[in-house]
Amino acid sequence: MATYDLVVIGTGPGGYVCAVRAAQLGMKVAVVEKNATLGGTCLNVGCMPSKALLHASEMFEEAGHSFAKMGVSVSSPKLDLPAMMNFKQQGIDGNVKGVEFLMKKNKIDVLKGTGKILGTGKVAVSADGKSQTIETKSIVIATGSDIARLKGIEIDEKRIVSSTGALSLDKVPGKLLIVGAGVIGLELGSVWHRLGAEVVVVEFLDRILPGMDGEIAKQFQRILEKQGFAFKLGAKVTAVDSSGKTLKATIEPAAGGAAETLEADVVLVCIGRVPYTDALGLKEAGVALDNRGRVQIDPHFATSLKGVYAIGDVVAGPMLAHKAEDEGVAVAEIIAGQAGHVNYDVIPGVVYTTPEVSSVGKTEEELKQAGVAYTVGKFPFTANGRSKVNQTTDGFVKILADAKTDRVLGVHIIGREAGEMIHEACVLMEFGGSAEDLARTCHAHPTRSEAIKEAALAVGKRAIHM
Ligand code: FAD
Ligand code: NAI
Repeated sequence: MATYDLVVIGTGPGGYVCAVRAAQLGMKVAVVEKNATLGGTCLNVGCMPSKALLHASEMFEEAGHSFAKMGVSVSSPKLDLPAMMNFKQQGIDGNVKGVEFLMKKNKIDVLKGTGKILGTGKVAVSADGKSQTIETKSIVIATGSDIARLKGIEIDEKRIVSSTGALSLDKVPGKLLIVGAGVIGLELGSVWHRLGAEVVVVEFLDRILPGMDGEIAKQFQRILEKQGFAFKLGAKVTAVDSSGKTLKATIEPAAGGAAETLEADVVLVCIGRVPYTDALGLKEAGVALDNRGRVQIDPHFATSLKGVYAIGDVVAGPMLAHKAEDEGVAVAEIIAGQAGHVNYDVIPGVVYTTPEVSSVGKTEEELKQAGVAYTVGKFPFTANGRSKVNQTTDGFVKILADAKTDRVLGVHIIGREAGEMIHEACVLMEFGGSAEDLARTCHAHPTRSEAIKEAALAVGKRAIHM
């Protein structure tokens, strides 16, 4: 019987990063993966394919709409969707191979099959009707998440799709109806809208992107509407009739009232994700779940069963790849007897649309609700020189600082490259820095990041360019 120091179940960003860190710390490690390829949701049907399509569709749109004003004259771009899907697949393959390489480099055994926990120190791995049992000192559950489904609406991944189907449509839908104005709806809605689809987003709440700062979300909605998105807020899809050539979706006001019917070629259901624990045998093994089906852990990622830990989408917290990765590193260090730690106050979130939206720390709504006295500094990209010359002036930077100590509590950005810009705020917040620290840090000119410095100056009411 094979024996290990650590067996990690699942090879998404949480699992494979955990395995690498554990190997670096001298452990003999195996990963168990039921999927044909390594990398989990993120590499195969999540972060990476969506970013490839976002990039390619943005280039398509730029060529059609932005080149001419810069004096770059091209004939009207034509869409070759199979080639675009091939570009996406090459990106997936490259990253998946990268994970395979990391497993080899770190001498991590890859066991293909479905992992089941038999008890402390025992995992069964089943594939093709055969099962083997492996022994290990520790087990990390990193089995991720699955799509949330709408009762009565069957996802066929052709016409009624989840994000997985929406990443592989074989033609541009004439009309795309999106259920849920969260991250997936707005990112994948952007892809298909840029390629020519009419997009209508139905959202249960009265705002888009719940959880993001309200002021940022409001401006983002306006920008998306200007791009051509239509929103139906405070509404829910209760049924989709797929018997005819076009789909007929029944939409009801969230607060109750008369229903209406909307026609669409494709319906994308993206109303969140749920933890994935199927086939793990958790109940029998004695691993407790919380009331939302997530594996319950203590502050050191330990589950209710000795020697079994859990990280990533399958536990509480934001369902983000970088959160899973950081937990993977932390739990490996804890198992090795070190002081692994994740600072949940400084986990950035990014929506990779045009413009991008990024955020770290508290929103204005959260500070109000917690009764924290705060000051706000804002700076629009219309007043940022680099954005002006590039004619990409949508959006602004917003900094929230503690009114007494000036410590930065939250930074929210809407604008081109906001996803790259947020990290100076993360570093500052990780060190407990103040708006004054940011305002006195020299920023290269001309960069979009100068808008962050100006927003920090605006906290003290002394922005220069406004
Ligand atoms: P996963 O990546 O879900 O990996 C879990 C792995 O476990 C899978 O490979 C699965 O096959 C395997 N597994 C499950 N059960 C078993 C078992 N019993 N035995 C063996 N193997 C098993 N996050 C970001 O931060 N940025 C983004 O841009 C982003 N974009 C996204 C876009 C889309 C369309 C989607 C759907 C998600 C996106 N996410 C993004 C979220 C991100 O993909 C997840 O947060 C991340 O993948 C979670 O990592 P994980 O390791 O916890 O689990
Ligand atoms: P989400 O939680 O971001 O958004 C779901 C939206 O659907 C919410 O606005 C919610 O109010 C709405 N909703 C729920 N039920 C509804 C109903 N019946 N009718 C209408 N609207 C309804 O979830 P999403 O977009 O599915 O993404 C899942 C997760 O994947 C994200 O939360 C995120 O963690 C991760 N992800 C991250 C990305 C990134 O970091 N860029 C990109 C894509 C996904």
